[in-house]
Amino acid sequence: MARKMLVIDDDPMVLSSCLRIFESEGFHVVTTTSPEEGLSLVLDTYFDVVLCDWMMPGLDGMDVITELDKTSPGSAVVMISGYPSIERATEAMKRGAMDYVAKPFTPDEIIKAVDEARQRKETEEIRVIERFGRLAKTGQLPLPSIDERVLQALSAAIDERRRIAAEPSLESLSEPERLREITLAVLDKYNRDAHNLIPVLQAVHSYAGYLSYGTIGLIAKELRMSEHDIFGTASFYAQFKFQKPGKHHIRVCAGTACFVSGGGVMLEAIRSKLDIVPGQTMRDGLFSLERVACLGCCALAPVVTIDGEVHGNMNPAKLSRAIDRIYRTEPKG
Ligand code: FES
Repeated sequence: MARKMLVIDDDPMVLSSCLRIFESEGFHVVTTTSPEEGLSLVLDTYFDVVLCDWMMPGLDGMDVITELDKTSPGSAVVMISGYPSIERATEAMKRGAMDYVAKPFTPDEIIKAVDEARQRKETEEIRVIERFGRLAKTGQLPLPSIDERVLQALSAAIDERRRIAAEPSLESLSEPERLREITLAVLDKYNRDAHNLIPVLQAVHSYAGYLSYGTIGLIAKELRMSEHDIFGTASFYAQFKFQKPGKHHIRVCAGTACFVSGGGVMLEAIRSKLDIVPGQTMRDGLFSLERVACLGCCALAPVVTIDGEVHGNMNPAKLSRAIDRIYRTEPKG
């Protein structure tokens, strides 16, 4: 999978140079002239590297770095600036940047800075992970998404095992049985090795849609770890959910364009209609709600998706009607 890079700079020339240089280095490069949009993009996508200008209209690059440190602490951030100084470089590093590069830079200079920044970030991450459970949590490290092929192989293995044993299909099992079956298959795949805890959690989560408390208990038992440590590790990452998603899943965009056009009003409308806040599922399991970063269709702001279908130019009345339509299709009782 290509490494991802985000470049935030108000100078389109810098953006196009970085695009050219780093795409030929194998990166998938996303660029933006807006610091606000940059901060919104990292909420939705994990970027291995973020290049950030210092002086931009709107948010100051230093403040962007401070925010990135909270919202995307796994990214290696490099500050780029046309006004270099030792004081600013020191300040940027204090706020979480891995390097500081003066503009104009040559391709070799920026490539070298990015390489070194990534190496430093990796070393830092290893140190943080080694200290799991022993230190107070200071943030959330994003996880790379699990390879689709792993999930397909897993699915095929479960089906095959149940077919050979002449057991009913996964779909016909109760929810706890289904989770147990998935978890045991994932543990088999990862050799019941505690060093593989993160891939195990990722695979179960991707496959089952969430990590139930029963799942955490089973993983703890099989890996001979404490449930507390496993929950502590999983809760370190914002991506893991611990509640089963609803039958119908609503996502409200909180990207900049949607936010300023009323994304918060949509969340409030859902809270008053369904009594759930982001991250929650209704008691009857019908709807769940998630707040997400830019969905990539800002011209339609504010945007809400329901079961993957995009609803643009939303307002509380339209949203309420869309929810009512789903209620009407649900079996009564
Ligand atoms: S901010 Fe881009 S779709 Fe909402």
